Amino acid sequence: MNIRSFGHALPRRTVTNTELTRILDTSDEWIQAHTGIVSRRIMTGRETLSGLGAKAARMALDRAGLTPADIDYILCSTTRGEMTFPSTACLVQEKLGATCPCLDVNAGCTGFLYAMDVADAMLNMDKYSRVLIICAERISRMADWTDRSTCVLFGDAAGAAVCERGDRLKTVRLTAEGKAGPLHAWPGGGNCPFDDRIPEERPLYMNGQEIFKFAVTRSLRDIQAVMDGCGITADAVDFYVLHQANRRILDAVRDRLKQLAEKFPLNITDHGNTSSACIPVLLSEMEEDGRLQKGQTLVLSAFGAGLTTGAAVLQY
Ligand code: ACO
Repeated sequence: MNIRSFGHALPRRTVTNTELTRILDTSDEWIQAHTGIVSRRIMTGRETLSGLGAKAARMALDRAGLTPADIDYILCSTTRGEMTFPSTACLVQEKLGATCPCLDVNAGCTGFLYAMDVADAMLNMDKYSRVLIICAERISRMADWTDRSTCVLFGDAAGAAVCERGDRLKTVRLTAEGKAGPLHAWPGGGNCPFDDRIPEERPLYMNGQEIFKFAVTRSLRDIQAVMDGCGITADAVDFYVLHQANRRILDAVRDRLKQLAEKFPLNITDHGNTSSACIPVLLSEMEEDGRLQKGQTLVLSAFGAGLTTGAAVLQY
């Protein structure tokens, strides 16, 4: 599979750390020192997840010189869709005016890597020639805005990628451990009168320190495995585009790989952790500012709820 272009879209509303100090016992200094985050974008008012996803998709299509009619399949990675059903992929499709099949995937923050693997398999089947991946995330709706150790970390965003047949995706390595304890959220249970144990909706729970250790060890393991699998050294990689969960996690991985800071692009500073949207949004921003060029070798790596992890080597 090749990726032809990326796109992204962000909510209008910026929420700074200083604004959070008005509703939480926290400080700009603490958040910056512990996470690297200065501000994040939060969806408000009439903004919708599918609207954000469609905007990101249009940018990716425009950059590729394509229209929605050129797409054979829409895959949407989302941790919590706009509606329970229809899928967010179908809601985005409606906004784009596309007519192809649509499917949502949920692998937590690793969703872009999982969606890439699904797209690659679809394209290899020879049934489809072009798959549009959209990662649309509104974690602000799942966060507990009274819990200072989690809500400060997240932001909302959408990223998109146009995928075509080709051989520039060199490898994808995915793992899952079937473990909800350290990172989860519960939906509400409806009002079935025959069910005497209906749970209430419960917001995102995260054991920060456990996830931190998991993230560093698994990211390093996955990155080394995909580089070894492709026979490339750490120095041969142009950019390491990693899930933006915490600046300290990114720095720890970079230190162990002994690489320059310029090779580890960041958007956590202004966007926070936007779950599966982090990686395609960052690649789209790099396409916009000219850092991302055709032919470059990229290592992608993410981890998330599941617990899932993924890494890939992609020649852009
Ligand atoms: N402001 C001020 N103080 C805070 C805040 C805050 N926002 N949040 C926590 N604290 C306090 C805690 O209450 C605690 O106080 P105490 O010692 O009086 O109990 C103290 O800071 C230290 O808390 P720790 O949890 O030890 O802080 P830590 O340095 O580990 O940072 C953090 C917490 C940022 C959550 C970190 O553990 C982390 O980033 N973990 C990984 C999280 C991650 O990657 N999440 C991914 C999200 S999901 C996903 O993307 C897959």
